[in-house]
Amino acid sequence: MERTAAQSVSPPATAGDQEGAGPKKRIPDTKPASNEAGAPIAAGGLRGVGLHKRYAAGGQALEVLRDIDLELAPGEMVAVVGESGCGKSTLLHILSTLDRPTEGAVYFAASCLSRLGSDELAEFRNREIGFVWQMPHLLPEFTLLENVMLPRLIAGEAERAAAGAARARLEEVGLERRAGHRAGELSGGEQQRGALARALVMQPRLLMADEPTGNLDEATAERVFSLLLDLHRRHGLTTLLVTHNLQFARRCDRVWRLHQGKLERLDTAFPGPSRAS
Ligand SMILES: Nc1ncnc2c1ncn2[C@@H]1O[C@H](COP(=O)(O)OP(=O)(O)OP(=O)(O)O)[C@@H](O)[C@H]1O
Ligand SMILES: [Mg+2]
Repeated sequence: MERTAAQSVSPPATAGDQEGAGPKKRIPDTKPASNEAGAPIAAGGLRGVGLHKRYAAGGQALEVLRDIDLELAPGEMVAVVGESGCGKSTLLHILSTLDRPTEGAVYFAASCLSRLGSDELAEFRNREIGFVWQMPHLLPEFTLLENVMLPRLIAGEAERAAAGAARARLEEVGLERRAGHRAGELSGGEQQRGALARALVMQPRLLMADEPTGNLDEATAERVFSLLLDLHRRHGLTTLLVTHNLQFARRCDRVWRLHQGKLERLDTAFPGPSRAS
């Protein structure tokens, strides 16, 4: 495959490095001053401190996030719900370093991500975060296998090793027999399972999913969500799920509602266990 095509992939590729690409490279040490981020954050945990986001739109200030503090513990899956336009995607973009807060900072383990430059952040995302969006964003003219290999090729891995890792992820999402098919020939649900395989091919520690089932029919959405939950657990990921589906949200460890720029815990609003059974 041409590297130029591989490098054109969008959205950003994901992280990790345990299947043949040598030792995992970690983000630079940007430890905050002792009390800046509060108590220590466990490896794999993510924290946002004092997050504000303001936009200037049409001459008017729009305050989307107002002084939000939050933490995702390692291995935790948190759902964010809220009405359209309340700022869920904005929050996900800030926590995943795709956007910067107007005020506040994001920490991953001991590192203050808000202090990193754009190249370091791109590398951080590449290594540590898997992304899944409402649309799969697979390259239709490339095979499914090639699509899933892309993050590893972009990271400089040899084609054979990248293919091995991609096949392993495709097996996990039940698409190993479709590896040679063009992505454009697959159904919407299959493409979204392929997007999940691509998100995890680098073995990231964080998974960011923005309405990953929003474009699917009910039965397919259930299948994709169950797969996402299963992969979250199997890979010990720390996962943020933005969703409008309250049934899926209640199967996560915790649920936050974003309302008027603030996060409220919704767990108690749902009857039954907070963890999926
Ligand atoms: N670059 C921008 N410039 C100005 N306003 C913006 C920008 N990006 C987002 N907004 C505004 O911020 C608010 C929050 O947008 P956001 O996309 O985060 O909402 P959301 O909760 O994800 O909505 P949905 O459920 O429809 O996806 C909206 O009012 C939106 O118009
Ligand atoms: Mg959104």
